Amino acid sequence: MKVRVLGSAAGGGFPQWNCNCRNCAGVRAGTLRARARTQSSIAVRAGDADGRSADRQGASWVLVNASPDILTQLRAHPDLQPARAPRDTAISAIVLVDGQIDHTTGLYMLRESTRPWALWCTDGVYTDLTRGNPILEVLSHYCRIERRRMSLDGAGFTVETVPDLRWHALPVAGKPAPYSPNRESPAPGDNVALVIRDDHSRKALFYAPGLAGIDEATWQAMQSAACVLVDGTFWSDDEMFRLGLSRKRAGDIGHLAQSGPGGMLEWLGRLPDATRKILVHINNTNPILDEDSPERAELGRRGIEVAWDGMEIDL
Ligand code: MLT
Ligand code: MN
Ligand code: ZN
Repeated sequence: MKVRVLGSAAGGGFPQWNCNCRNCAGVRAGTLRARARTQSSIAVRAGDADGRSADRQGASWVLVNASPDILTQLRAHPDLQPARAPRDTAISAIVLVDGQIDHTTGLYMLRESTRPWALWCTDGVYTDLTRGNPILEVLSHYCRIERRRMSLDGAGFTVETVPDLRWHALPVAGKPAPYSPNRESPAPGDNVALVIRDDHSRKALFYAPGLAGIDEATWQAMQSAACVLVDGTFWSDDEMFRLGLSRKRAGDIGHLAQSGPGGMLEWLGRLPDATRKILVHINNTNPILDEDSPERAELGRRGIEVAWDGMEIDL
């Protein structure tokens, strides 16, 4: 399978339009060695029959999360426009890991679709997207959405247009979006991690851009994957608080910080050396965005990569 990171930043992107933190100001001024990044989204397609993932024209891709930056992201990847018809796209289905603004607002930008969108999400996310933020109701006036139910019973699912990939959704610790009537009473399925396995290569991706903690099932799933593409939102739990940008801690908004006891770095350090470990959904305040920072150097020493827009992973 081929995994393409369309957007590697958390909500707000990098730099964030109204932010003058060290990172945002530095990347804007060109004084910081860092790449700008768009908001969180990946696209996934199957590999070739021999299990390799050579570049393939006309392949069908699954969009995982629809970021507000989707139009910029599509323009950055011309192969996602195969031009087989007057109106066309290589994106054949959409999968959502949660109902957050940064993962769903791009649905509005895809409203001109001439084909119905197959849209996979959990019941909790579907409820949020038809009530708290009724984007699917609004969209139904523009295009057809064929909602596919993502169950949490371990059975897994297959996206019809990409039959060689097998998907499993795991409920993970986290929170529903701030607009959700259930924000303070999280339930399983508000956030999921995805395990995507390629039938031919037999390799799996573990993808979880929002992860507040790692329970036994999540840990098992991480160990089963050849590559983990995980929550890289914050370096420290009090990052936003310390910068005076928010009163909330990372944990309060559903993200496990990298540093500190029980942090993401400790977990990743327990995975086999052969597992590819990549942080994604990186908030603009996170010091790892500065390629000259000590935090970034620490990731390098630990063999942990930082996703960037356009990064490709072959599995
Ligand atoms: C989050 O995952 O917490 C989001 O990036 C918040 C947002 O979309 O603003
Ligand atoms: Mn987010
Ligand atoms: Zn910033």
